[in-house]
Amino acid sequence: MKQVVVKAYAKINLILDVLGKREDGYHEVEMVMQTISLHDEVILKSAPGIMITTNHPQVPTDKRNLAYQAAQLIQTRYPTIPGVEIIINKQIPIEAGLAGGSTDGAAVILGMNKLFSLDMTKDEMLTLAAQLGSDVPFCILGPTAVARGRGELLEEITPCPLLWLVLVKPEFGVKTPQVYKNLNLAEITDHPDLMKYIRALERKDKEYICNNLLNILEQSTFQLYPQVKEIKAQMYNLGAKNVLMSGSGPTVFALFSNRQEAEDFFRQVKGIYRQVYLAQTIDEEKIRERMKINE
Ligand code: C5P
Repeated sequence: MKQVVVKAYAKINLILDVLGKREDGYHEVEMVMQTISLHDEVILKSAPGIMITTNHPQVPTDKRNLAYQAAQLIQTRYPTIPGVEIIINKQIPIEAGLAGGSTDGAAVILGMNKLFSLDMTKDEMLTLAAQLGSDVPFCILGPTAVARGRGELLEEITPCPLLWLVLVKPEFGVKTPQVYKNLNLAEITDHPDLMKYIRALERKDKEYICNNLLNILEQSTFQLYPQVKEIKAQMYNLGAKNVLMSGSGPTVFALFSNRQEAEDFFRQVKGIYRQVYLAQTIDEEKIRERMKINE
């Protein structure tokens, strides 16, 4: 039976700035988003209704799952197609700040488009994705983009050169709304220089890219979950030079331009924390090749 297999990649934020609070309750953001190699595998097959199975006991298999909501959105738009069976082999930690739920939603949009030959354009898929959540459009697009608005307005920029990451996920999750609610913008004086960062990406200046990571949400998350701050400090103590929290957290990553250094650091950190991942940045070619059809 025909099936589509999608590599649903995680993301990190190299830059995350918050410009203010909006009237709709969201925050106006300016972010540099980057796709990384850590991924779930999402398998889609034609079926009479929408059905989700997963290897992860905490991932919901009903409407709470963005993958389910994505399939519903597509069914509403294309009422003649049958339903879909969705198998999620989860590798990305949940409530981690890595868009693990969003990327599964994006994979269902990409995968159903292929499975049922819907011929949706990228823009049509991005519009559907924005209805699911702020990070879902980026998960459709990848590999490197500036996200504005509430995160859904994307500008493609020069893809990030190959960098290596060691990610540490603490043993608890973080609820994004709580982090935004606790954010005190008046206290934040150090904002990133987005244009300078984009220029550094254009000239593939790995040193600048690694040395100028900044996430405005760290302050809020650190206040709510001091353990995240401690993990970041410990990663510096262990010798990492560039460490940042991703999204609203709690995952913290160290960034390296040198593969060997990243691998050595990974081995070191793996002895201390349980959920540690080694990953690399993803390029345009890997984004193009993320989907495969098995007849
Ligand atoms: O869009 P999404 O469902 O991923 O957002 C989750 C929550 O995070 C929102 O309900 C909001 O509380 C907060 N958020 C925000 N500003 C953003 C993105 C998310 O306040 N730009």
